[in-house]
Amino acid sequence: MHPISVSILISYIVACSAQDQYVVLKNAASPGQRMPAVGLGTGGYGATHNSYGSYPECWMEIAGCGNYTITAVKTWLNLGGRRLDAADSYDTQFSVGVAMAQSGLPREEIFLLQKTGNWNPMGYEDTLSQFDFLLQQMNVSYVDITLNHWPTSPASPTVDPLCDPKKSSYDEKGCRLSTWKAYVEIWKAGKSLAIGVANYNISHLQEIIDAKMPLPAVNQVPMHLYNAQSQMELLAFCKLNNIVLLSYSPLGIPDWHKFPISHLPAASTLSDPVLLSITAAHAPATPAQIILAWLWALGVPSNPRSMSATHMVGYIYRTFSSVYGLRHSTCDTHSQLLISLYFFHPPG
Ligand SMILES: NC(=O)c1ccc[n+]([C@@H]2O[C@H](COP(=O)([O-])OP(=O)(O)OC[C@H]3O[C@@H](n4cnc5c(N)ncnc54)[C@H](OP(=O)(O)O)[C@@H]3O)[C@@H](O)[C@H]2O)c1
Repeated sequence: MHPISVSILISYIVACSAQDQYVVLKNAASPGQRMPAVGLGTGGYGATHNSYGSYPECWMEIAGCGNYTITAVKTWLNLGGRRLDAADSYDTQFSVGVAMAQSGLPREEIFLLQKTGNWNPMGYEDTLSQFDFLLQQMNVSYVDITLNHWPTSPASPTVDPLCDPKKSSYDEKGCRLSTWKAYVEIWKAGKSLAIGVANYNISHLQEIIDAKMPLPAVNQVPMHLYNAQSQMELLAFCKLNNIVLLSYSPLGIPDWHKFPISHLPAASTLSDPVLLSITAAHAPATPAQIILAWLWALGVPSNPRSMSATHMVGYIYRTFSSVYGLRHSTCDTHSQLLISLYFFHPPG
């Protein structure tokens, strides 16, 4: 057997024996803080003047995405989903806050993940003010975890001269570290119970280690069938440093494949032939459930986006595990899935 597949199998067996509905956050997190395995994405719900899933995607509340976001979040919470994946750059924070309030759930029952940055400025001052504004817009007093959305931002002007890409004082690494300093302060002030990053590679994480600052609890990156192989080194590095690797776009954004963009892969992960054959052996599981189960078996939680109550029900772990007996009994068959997928070459 190939040596890499052996190491994956070992991590898989460890993950199988530790199956739970939550992952416990470490590093810059509250002691024993638990994050639900599956969350709902809150970006990309389409504009009201277009049908959901049409192109171009709409991530902005100002363009009319709000109603779709409110419907999706309320449906998810009413069905029993408890984690929400939000970001200020999705510009849906107001709708997410409204949906949380309308759900009638106590605040502490919801695990709210937020992000600053991306299209918004990075840097110490800008991060602190963006974060406080987020709390106001969502009408909440704290979030469960906040992530620095991207390792860089094109935003200009910025308060911090290190972070303005249009100034000669721009210092990419210095900017990341001053941004992270603000995150640590937000965490220590109890405004965010944990802090993390998104789209960081190993060298970005190493900068924080070298600076001897508290390490992120989470690193959120794209992880789906067709890019998983390229994320394995990052996953191992994160595990070594107690950072939870959290998958976004776990289904490979199947609705993108409806759009006329030539550089995207031609096929959707959901119709991958290996996946379909494994799904057939696990009826009544769906391809999407198998993908999330496979990610979870690797120790990777995820947050798919969906407007469909049927799809959401399939993601809520209690249902998800009982549908096809994820716990323990399917570990052997899933190991085949892991190996097949690891060596699978995406269609060109
Ligand atoms: N940190 C970052 O930089 C970053 C970047 C991108 C995304 N994200 C986060 O990740 C979330 C999800 O990623 P994404 O929106 O890019 O893509 P995704 O979750 O991979 O794909 C969403 C698409 O999958 C479909 N779908 C969901 N469940 C399905 C099922 N069971 N069967 C068939 N189709 C299904 C949805 O349609 P239906 O509505 O019909 O279910 C929707 O068209 C975002 O909303 C956002 O919160 C983070």
